[in-house]
Amino acid sequence: MCALYRFRCRTSKPDPFYAAQAQLQEQQFSMNQASNFPGRFDGRSEQYLRWQEDRLQQQQRYNGLQATLLSPTLEKTDDQALARLCSSVQDYGFALYQWSEASDNPDRDVSLLHAALSLRSFDRGVVHEDSGLSLLTDLSGTDQGKFIPYTSRRMGWHTDGYYNTMDQSLHCFTLHCISPAHSGGALTLLDHQLVLIELFNEDPALVDLLSHPQAMMLPANRDELGHDRPERYSPVLFVRTDGTPGAHFTTRTKHIHWRTPDTLDAAQQMKKVIERLETWQCTVKLNAGQGLITRNVLHQRDAYTDHPDAPRKMLRGRYLQSPQHPFIKHDDHGSSPCCM
Ligand SMILES: [Fe+2]
Repeated sequence: MCALYRFRCRTSKPDPFYAAQAQLQEQQFSMNQASNFPGRFDGRSEQYLRWQEDRLQQQQRYNGLQATLLSPTLEKTDDQALARLCSSVQDYGFALYQWSEASDNPDRDVSLLHAALSLRSFDRGVVHEDSGLSLLTDLSGTDQGKFIPYTSRRMGWHTDGYYNTMDQSLHCFTLHCISPAHSGGALTLLDHQLVLIELFNEDPALVDLLSHPQAMMLPANRDELGHDRPERYSPVLFVRTDGTPGAHFTTRTKHIHWRTPDTLDAAQQMKKVIERLETWQCTVKLNAGQGLITRNVLHQRDAYTDHPDAPRKMLRGRYLQSPQHPFIKHDDHGSSPCCM
């Protein structure tokens, strides 16, 4: 069964340790500014121009988000479907699956799917079950409901874990729908690789500003739920350890400080670029038994209202690696996979 979906100035006083770390990063950045987006992703080299052309041609071939049918218990016959799922995530940033039958234990079966995709190291900085999955539902009025994913409110453009350190940067988030909202709750996704290309075309200086290691600072966060995060500095755009472009982005305006007024302006330009790339955005409202696998691309969520007797329930996973299937092998720079 296939489905086609619609496209559419720093003021706080830093902790001395982190201030020293930030100063060191600043020195390293000024020494290596030219290599901040090295080789393939520097916006001007032959390698970059080739990658840009390939990525844009690939996007022209995109024919919509089509659900891949999977058994919840993953039979041997699902191997090719898993390989297709991984290829789609690698090529376009996200993929949709649909379970062929209802599951009596979604938490167990989603964990099984994630293990099959080699998604094992999950983000430990968020509220989650032992499996690493978080149940997203409207918990407004509770301690957990202070966090916007646990409400029914709209969430602006972001990548998950934008406040994580670079060594804990998330390569993947997943969502699986147990029960949909009565209305609203659709997700819109956009591959940040396409935004990077557009920013380079608009003004390479924007990428320079946004790839600075201290482009944004997230103040310390301590709360009764056990979060104890020191002040964090992060680039908005960067190259991941696996050689692919990554992004730590949020449109939130509270609890975030930009390195300079020009950096703030660059972040606002990036938001405009995201909104302008509407034809490459993909909007999907998951039905029960459907799920998304992504390489932590940019996304936003519509506000929603619940059924009185069946609230919206989504299982979310966040991982430090990209999905990989044993049958496919990727090259070092994240280009299209090949079957072994
Ligand atoms: Fe998110």
